[in-house]
Amino acid sequence: MKSLILSAAVSLTALTMPVLALADDDVAAGEKVFKRCVACHTVDEGGRNKVGPNLWNIFGSTAGQRDIGYKYSDAMKASGIVWTEDTMSDYLENPRKAVPKTRMAFPGLKKEEQREAVIEYLESVTQ
Ligand code: HEC
Repeated sequence: MKSLILSAAVSLTALTMPVLALADDDVAAGEKVFKRCVACHTVDEGGRNKVGPNLWNIFGSTAGQRDIGYKYSDAMKASGIVWTEDTMSDYLENPRKAVPKTRMAFPGLKKEEQREAVIEYLESVTQ
C-alpha cells in the first residue's frame, strides 16, 4: 500500500513538473519579447506612463478606459476591446489592423509563440 501511494505521488509529480517548467519558460521567453515594449511601456503597479500607457492591471480592462492619466487616441478609446489573452494576441499581431489609427507605433509580433509568451509574462507581472 505504501509503495502504491508513493508511486502515485511520483507519477503525479512527473505529470505536473513539465507543465510548470513550460509555464516558467514561457514567462522567461516573454520577458525577453517584452524588451521590444519597454521603450514605451512600464508594467509595475503605479508605474509611469511613457509613450504608451503603464500596463499594470491591463487584463479585464476596456482598451483606453483605465483612469491612469494617460491620453489615449480616440481610436483606442472607441475600440470597445476588453483585454483578454485572445484580444491582446489579435492586437499584438497587427496593432493597426486590430485598432485602425491606434497611436501605438509597433509593427506587431507575427509569431504566435512570441505573442503567447509575452502575454504569459504580462499576466505574471501586471496583476
Ligand atoms: C513605440 C512605442 C510602443 C511600443 C514599442 C509598444 N507600444 Fe503598446 N502602446 C503604445 C501606445 C502609444 C499605446 C496607446 C495607443 C492608443 O491610444 O491608440 C499603446 C497601447 C498598448 C496597449 C493597450 C493599453 C490600454 O490601456 O488599453 C497594450 C495592451 C499594449 N500597448 C501592449 C504592448 C506590448 C505587449 C508591446 C510589445 C510587444 C507594445 N505595446 C509595444 C506604444 C507602444
